[in-house]
Amino acid sequence: MWRIQKKMKNFLHIRDIPVRDLKKIISDAKNRKAKRKRLNTLDTDKDKPLKGKILLQMFEKSSLRTRLSFYLAIKQLGGGSLTLRPEELHLGIGSESIADTSKILSTYGNAFMLRTDSDKKLDQFKKYSNIPIINGLSPSSHPTQVLSDIFTIQEIKKKSISKLKLCWIGDANNNMMNSLIEVCIKFSVALNIACPKDYQPNKLLTSLIKKQKGKIKIFNKKEKAVKNSDVVMTDKIISLNDKVNKRKKLKSFENFKLDTKTMNLAKKDAIFMHCLPRGSEVTEEVFLGKQSKVWQQALNRVYVQKSILLYCFGKLR
Ligand code: CP
Ligand code: NVA
Repeated sequence: MWRIQKKMKNFLHIRDIPVRDLKKIISDAKNRKAKRKRLNTLDTDKDKPLKGKILLQMFEKSSLRTRLSFYLAIKQLGGGSLTLRPEELHLGIGSESIADTSKILSTYGNAFMLRTDSDKKLDQFKKYSNIPIINGLSPSSHPTQVLSDIFTIQEIKKKSISKLKLCWIGDANNNMMNSLIEVCIKFSVALNIACPKDYQPNKLLTSLIKKQKGKIKIFNKKEKAVKNSDVVMTDKIISLNDKVNKRKKLKSFENFKLDTKTMNLAKKDAIFMHCLPRGSEVTEEVFLGKQSKVWQQALNRVYVQKSILLYCFGKLR
């Protein structure tokens, strides 16, 4: 029987994870980060909670931050990782099934992180695995990034996320936005979204948004959405898994570029966040400006990945 081992958990979508567990992950990341002030990047945390464990990772799509942050995360927890290249596996060239590959991953490894071009594949890996599966980005979700962003916002603002007003300007029908909406619903966060008409949240999320009693609002003008925000976020217009006419999509977003004039409509102490990589959705001035927290945001992924791993291994206190 290929069923996840007792006490272990998958990390596939924010919507699947109880809010108390999301909060536990964030608070564990805060504690562990505080204890590493004098440690070098490759030094392990004192308790080495994942000593002897191996994380297998596979990327069907490019990655810089997710790859490096998971590598460092498991290392700092006392374990190790191996990155598999899809084209070097039988699976990648079409001569082995996901079922068999997943069972073998479970036989050799202790957890599997997958960045994929298909949500179905994640479900298939899960079906034939008895080790935790982590979604390192799929067409529909980017849960590890979004949870880390909540951590960063609370770290900078020194306030609970539910007391802050978030604004998203850009594609509202992509993986980042889906996970952000899911997290805002879980934590009851006020979120304003500015997006072109053809790039609104998907039907399921739109119906969930309607049940939020106005906490999440959708605008078709960035100037309206950004007013009084504490945090302004955006993402690439063209996502890794987008199969669209790029020129047409870019054109639809002409009025949604985040520039200084728009940023100035947010609160004076508002911060700017972007998961990276970036494209033409934000000006250089905003991206490199004083309000931008993008480098801190990227670094924090290491700390949050560690606590996500501990959650998956059933080791979060
Ligand atoms: N933000 C993010 O996931 O970056 P990578 O695509 O480089 O992993
Ligand atoms: N929405 C982006 C996120 C990149 C980290 C993409 O899928 O390419």
